[in-house]
Amino acid sequence: MLTQQTDDGKRSSLHGNWSSRMAFILAVTGSAVGLGNIWKFPYIAGQNGGGAFVLVYLACVILIGMPVMMSEILIGRRGRRNPVRTMELLGKEEGGSGRWRWVGGLGVVAGILILSYYSVIAGWTLAYIVKSVSGVFAGASPQAVGAEFDNFVGDWRLVGLTHTVFMGLAVFVVARGVERGLEQAVRFMVPALLVLMLVLLGYSISSGYFGQGVAFMFTPDFGALTRDSILAALGQAFFTLSIGMGAVMAYGAYLPEETSITGASAAVVTADTSIAMLAGLAIFPLVFANGLTPGDGPGLVFNTLPLAFGQMPGGVFFSTVFFVLLSFAAWTSAIGLMEPAVAWIVEHYSKTRAQATVGVGLLIWFIGLGSVLSFNVLADARFLAGTIFDNVDYLTSNVMLPLGGLLIVWFAGWVMSRNSTSDELGGSGALYKLWRFSARYLAPVGILFVLLNAIGLLG
Ligand code: TRP
Repeated sequence: MLTQQTDDGKRSSLHGNWSSRMAFILAVTGSAVGLGNIWKFPYIAGQNGGGAFVLVYLACVILIGMPVMMSEILIGRRGRRNPVRTMELLGKEEGGSGRWRWVGGLGVVAGILILSYYSVIAGWTLAYIVKSVSGVFAGASPQAVGAEFDNFVGDWRLVGLTHTVFMGLAVFVVARGVERGLEQAVRFMVPALLVLMLVLLGYSISSGYFGQGVAFMFTPDFGALTRDSILAALGQAFFTLSIGMGAVMAYGAYLPEETSITGASAAVVTADTSIAMLAGLAIFPLVFANGLTPGDGPGLVFNTLPLAFGQMPGGVFFSTVFFVLLSFAAWTSAIGLMEPAVAWIVEHYSKTRAQATVGVGLLIWFIGLGSVLSFNVLADARFLAGTIFDNVDYLTSNVMLPLGGLLIVWFAGWVMSRNSTSDELGGSGALYKLWRFSARYLAPVGILFVLLNAIGLLG
């Protein structure tokens, strides 16, 4: 029997609990803050024309992301199991169907697919630590920095090697368990990352193109918003907050009873969104100052930030520290991406944590080879959304996460009883009512609207 009962009749987790409320917030923040904020947000915003995209993204974060995150955490804490088992258990308890487990299953698969390419990009950041130390960026021209990037991603062996190293790092931490090491890393990393973003921001302000960067980010041209860019904004909101795939649910399973879910969610959303905004504000002025284009794609950060570092006093130091921190941020996110799959295998197949992690890690590594090759050998093999990397990214961020989020928020709003949810969210005051309204109407309608609009069903 997996379920352990505590004094008040509630289940407790098999994997141990977070040592404190702060530890939980740090862990979720660690999963949320990652490549999504610093690598992905700027280039997606750039590809989708800036201002209007950023506004839609912010609206998605607040109106949809926040209620979905709260729903995910409360489901996780109530079920206290891996996402598959939790959805099955609560499904039966609340609505009579164990089939809700497929929502957990969708999340397990999404996590595996996301990490398969996430690890490749994280490998780039590892390579950029080495490049920074070597001083290649010192005083380099935009052309030289661009060539450095092109040469690197063009070599499948190097990209494959760094992907392998990064997966090894991720497997190492996850195999050792939930709490050890993880909390300490985040406690230091997120503040340090904030400081370095401020340094970069300072440089950007001094570049003389700050106004142009701000204008690009915040002047909405709604005419430039396509169906697909609205979907991309929703997908980015899910991706950056780590929601829609059960990761936050898995973390919620280890959350102590007395912690405020609303407070924790607000803290995470605020930290995550601030870092993304800072990244945009630091990067776009550099784009314009150096005559680059904002829509350049996945290389954007790697083509702009080294330029700034190359011109700053102490640039070798700052650049190295920055890419170390970014690698750390990716590392703590990778852990969250693996957690649903690993927790599920441990509970379902009674494997040890180490066995489960190595197995999942190998699978992810192998799938990731498709993304390794997307930037070189198979760069011209395009179908549907583009390269293999483009397709995995599109399928996960723009389809699987919004769909998973819709089912999760629907479950919390319509399937779970009022008693269960108000019990988890602590009371039935105005904040609870606001959450319930969002979970029942605002978020599902919003997600459905964007999805149906994207496939052209709304005319
Ligand atoms: N939020 C992470 C980032 O911005 C990426 C991510 C998506 C993630 N889903 C996740 C991380 C689930 C951990 C768990 O980089």
